[in-house]
Parts: sequence; C-alpha cells; structure tokens
Amino acid sequence: MNEFFPYRHGQLHAEATSLLDVAAAVGTPFYLYSAAALTARYHSFVEAFQPIQPMVCYAVKANSNLAVLRLFAGLGAGADVVSEGELHRALAAGIPPDRVIFSGVGKGRAELMTALEAGIHQINVESVPELRRLSEIAAAQGAAAKVAIRVNPDVDALTHAKIATGKKENKFGIDLDEALAAYRLADALPGIEPVGVAMHIGSQAGSLQPFAEAFERLAGFIREVRQAGLKVRRVDLGGGLSIRYRDETPTDPAEYGALVNRIFGGLDLSMACEPGRVLVGPAGLLVARVEYIKHGASRRIVIVDAAMNDLIRPALYEAWHEIVPVRQPGSDVVVSAADVVGPVCETGDTFATGRELPPLEEGELVAFGNAGAYGAVMSSTYNTRPLVPEVLVSGDRYAVIRARPTYAEMLALDTVPEWLPPPRDR
Ligand code: LLP
Repeated sequence: MNEFFPYRHGQLHAEATSLLDVAAAVGTPFYLYSAAALTARYHSFVEAFQPIQPMVCYAVKANSNLAVLRLFAGLGAGADVVSEGELHRALAAGIPPDRVIFSGVGKGRAELMTALEAGIHQINVESVPELRRLSEIAAAQGAAAKVAIRVNPDVDALTHAKIATGKKENKFGIDLDEALAAYRLADALPGIEPVGVAMHIGSQAGSLQPFAEAFERLAGFIREVRQAGLKVRRVDLGGGLSIRYRDETPTDPAEYGALVNRIFGGLDLSMACEPGRVLVGPAGLLVARVEYIKHGASRRIVIVDAAMNDLIRPALYEAWHEIVPVRQPGSDVVVSAADVVGPVCETGDTFATGRELPPLEEGELVAFGNAGAYGAVMSSTYNTRPLVPEVLVSGDRYAVIRARPTYAEMLALDTVPEWLPPPRDR
C-alpha cells in the first residue's frame, strides 16, 4: 500500500482510521478513499505544471462520487465529463460550469443542449456529424458553442487494447488528415466558435514516449491550422498518466509537465488536461472479507465477499491489483500461492491467480489496492448484489459517501406489469 494506508497496532488503517472499525460499522465489501491522499495527489499534479498552469479538468469517469468531486472542487479543479449524468454530478458538486469540458464520441441531442444551457467551458467534438448537430442546436438556441476539435493522432499509447484510444483504428477523434477541414467547417458553421484542439491517446500509458509523439503531432496540427488563417487559443491534452499497480513505471507528472512545456510552451495557448486515474487510483481501496478458504487440487482458493461486479478491472482488462491482509502479517510469515475469487457464478470472477499471500482465515479482511479509479464507478448489481458502499476518510473521521442500497430499494426499481398473470400456486 502507500503512506496513506499504514499498518498501525497490527491493523491496516486509512490515515488514522482503522479499517476494522469501518468494516464493523459499514459491513463488507466497501470502497474507501483517503481525503489526504486525494488532496496530496491533486497538489503534486498541479505543482508539476508550474509554470504552465493548465486548467485541471478531473476526469469524472474515474470516480464520480459527489464527495470526491466536492473535494476536488474545493481544491480548484475543473471537470472533464462524458455524459449528461456526469455533467449534473460536476455541477452539483460545485464545479463551476466555466471549468467543465464535455468529451465523448457519441453525445446525444439532450446532452448537448444541457451542456449549452449550463454554459460550460468547452465541448470537445469528435466527428463532423457531431459538429453539424451541435451547430444546429446552438444556432436554434442563439448560443455560440465553444468547440475544440478532438484529433486522433494515430499513436499507440502502449496500454491495454481496451483502453487505447489514440490509434487510427480506434473510434475516437478526427483523423489528423481530416482535422483541418473539420476545423474550417467549425469556423464556418453557425453557432460554433472553434477555440482549439483536444486529444486523449488512452489510459495507463506505457511510457512518456507516446505522449511525446502525440503532442508533437498535435503541435504540428496547431501550426497548420494557424497557417490556414484560423485561430487556435486552447489545447486540451487529455489524461492517460499511469500509476503503479504492480511493477509499472508510473508517469512522472514532473517529466510529463516538462514535456508539455517543451512542446506547447512557445505556442501561446491556454492549456487544459483531463487526469483521472493518476489523481484517484492510489487513493482508494476495496475492502472485502474472506468467506471461505477452499483447498483445491493444486492450490488454495480464497473466496472473498467482493466480486467482479464490484471491481471489474481484473475480469475486463486482466488488471493486477495488490491484495493485502488487513491484519498485519508477522515478519516471519510464510507466503504461499492462492487464487482470490469472488462468489459470482463465472470463472471470470477471479481477482488473482497464484498470488503469494500469507495464511488467511475465514472472516478476516483483505484490501485491494489502487481501487480509487475505475472501481466503484464500474460496479454493477450483477447477481442482484447491492452496489458497494463508498467511505471517505479524513484523519480519524470517516463518512459513508454512498450507502449500500437495501434489497427492497433494489427490487423497487423493477415493475411487474399488472397484465401479467398472478403466480400459480403450483
Ligand atoms: N479524457 C478522456 C477523453 C478519456 O476518455 C479518459 C479516460 C480520460 C480523460 C482519463 O484518463 P485517465 O487519466 O484516467 O487515464 N476503465 C478503464 C479506463 C478507461 C479510461 C477511459 N477514458 C480502466 O479501468 O483502466
């Protein structure tokens, strides 16, 4: 784990709060975020960008809990949203509309209308049809939509295929060779004010190199647009900085900042970026309880009460998350291989295979690390498992920031048509 999740008195804590105490009060499984970790990560990110001072638009999709958004709002963050729902969250958390960017490849009519009415900072447009639709809506409202053209730089972010977005074959952005025509069109269309360009090459980028290539191409494009006599005032660099889940070399925000400065520094642009994972990933845990230990033919199987519906990253991306016992293992502990699995009826519901873990007992707690990003937000109620509660810790205080729904609440979301026949007795 990291400095915000220390062992104290033999038990894992979040800051000065015992996970055992939280588990006793809230039940398991639950997500937990450290306010100090969130704050520290935001500050170190911002510091890395002196003197560029970009508008930091936190990518809400990584963790959209209102309390997390409020914390970032309090630090001065803006938001990058990809749906009307996220826009409502950002605004409800107090993020000013003029610090909100709307990204996404398939924005609906109602979503665009809401964004225009809210008067957000910028809409990142990813296709010519979207540009035309936005023009139509904005012109009808008598509004001028501030638009950035998202270009696809055709760069491999060296990450998992499912989260790479910057290659030509990906669905995102407008190809570089068509982007100038799109920018011209944006300039000509009623209701559109092209203000700049945007990109995002993917998430958990493998190194700084893909950013360097993509930024160079983007800078080249900006010069091209300016040579064509059009104004480019802003650049939005997207997100994608990586963290260390296992043994990756995480993106160093200072090196990233220096790169941005080197490539864009002289271009007289106001800059925005959309970090998600790097701000929240290491600030969160998923805490689960061991239900059973099963000794299979070849190895120990640890069945926990969290499942793929709560944390889908291992099932979806073969992602590796650290797993540690909440009770501190002694220094002489002997580790051995174990599979850590959930209760869902799918083999994919496996968090780890052959993981070296100390002895574990039924009833004890384990914590999954780096679960602050793309954890709770990607959870579902598959198998009618209630959404896992979320807890925010600050020092020795904690608050439930999303409660576990009751079964009655879950069932109440369904409706049985009155024209269906009543159940038969037998
Ligand atoms: N901006 C845009 C337009 C994006 O699509 C994304 C992420 C971000 C910013 C933030 O990227 P970050 O800084 O977090 O890398 N569910 C996956 C990650 C999907 C990311 C999608 N887009 C996962 O669990 O790894």
